[in-house]
Amino acid sequence: MLIQQKISLKPFNTFGIDVVAEHFVQLDNIAGLPELTALGWKKHILGGGSNILLTGPVRGLVIHNQLKGISTIKEDVDYIWLNVQAGEIWHDLVLYAISNGLGGIENLALIPGTVGASPMQNIGAYGVEAKETIETVTCWNWEEKAFMTFSNSQCEFGYRDSIFKRQLKDKTFITSVVYKLSRNPAYHTSYGAINDELERMGVQELSVNAIAKAVINIRTSKLPDPKQIGNAGSFFKNPTIPLRQYTLLQSVYTGMPSYPVNESTVKVPAGWLIEQCGWKGYKHGDMGVHAKQALVLVNYGNAPGSEIWELSGEILHSVKEKFGIELEREVQVW
Ligand code: FAD
Ligand code: EPU
Repeated sequence: MLIQQKISLKPFNTFGIDVVAEHFVQLDNIAGLPELTALGWKKHILGGGSNILLTGPVRGLVIHNQLKGISTIKEDVDYIWLNVQAGEIWHDLVLYAISNGLGGIENLALIPGTVGASPMQNIGAYGVEAKETIETVTCWNWEEKAFMTFSNSQCEFGYRDSIFKRQLKDKTFITSVVYKLSRNPAYHTSYGAINDELERMGVQELSVNAIAKAVINIRTSKLPDPKQIGNAGSFFKNPTIPLRQYTLLQSVYTGMPSYPVNESTVKVPAGWLIEQCGWKGYKHGDMGVHAKQALVLVNYGNAPGSEIWELSGEILHSVKEKFGIELEREVQVW
């Protein structure tokens, strides 16, 4: 393996932040893991770099995941189990599923990044989360120097959350994921504007392909393309608040949207809260808040990650002042 020194990470993160990694390696074979383990450096796993904010030079070793391969490990009349190497591009997996008529991940079309990051924060969109199709996750544990396989329940998935983001943070390298996809998909079209978009497209008969296309159309209409404007998708999570607090707030802010979580809590769109604080379309130097989606912070050119971090702090502060709601960052900060 070629370990390079002082490599710019600008091409490797969708925010387009220009910082240097002290050491950098491309990993395309799991056989290299014991050798990397023996190196004493702090390890940073890099997939597509679409959910990280780089705030300064990265000390230690950045391992760029290039593990590739999709194979069928089991099938029956209803399902097929795919073992997917963690460096596969997520959207390529969605396209693979669609072209084979397999359902379960079509609503997650066009989410940037790698398969290995999908269990990390249980990616989700348009009413579906990765946890619904993940059967097992295999990873290399740096401390145990061994591979470990986690069942779905052992992954402790939650909203943009898993054990890999908490107890196992920085302790494991996810190397492969097994997904259980359906030959007889149950379609999820009720979320957001999917039904409207399917109608606009003139779709008569539902299919995984049609749903993925509708999702792609909606996504491209509101989310900035990182190739044109640097960003990492939603910068914050949508907060869950007690129903009591929501009712009080709604008596003041009558248009405040919400989604029920359970009998006593609701989720409030962070994009709405941020927009109400006047941030939507904000621009200062090269950084800003996207004009079509206030939940997305953007880098128009050469904004330093540390300044985007500071901007996110100002947004957190203003939402807390106005609504008494504490936002949580979704993006991983390095
Ligand atoms: P990276 O950014 O490379 O890494 C993210 C974190 O995971 C890092 O801490 C990294 O160390 C860790 N990590 C990555 N791979 C591994 C591994 N193999 N083992 C252990 N740790 C690992 N997310 C959604 O959930 N829904 C969306 O709809 C969505 N839309 C987006 C739209 C845009 C335009 C963008 C830019 C991002 C969006 N995201 C969305 C966020 C992002 O695409 C996901 O979080 C994605 O899963 C990140 O994958 P990645 O490979 O780029 O991860
Ligand atoms: N809204 C506003 N102003 C804005 C943005 C949103 O008022 O500027 C309000 C509107 O009421 C809108 C609602 O928020 O109806 C929801 O907006 P949207 O459908 O765009 O979704 P979101 O809640 O902002 C979440 C995910 C996205 C995911 C979409 C679709 C989080 C943190 N974000 O965004 O995921 O693609 O739903 O399911 O849960 C990501 O994680 O990076 C991401 C992009």
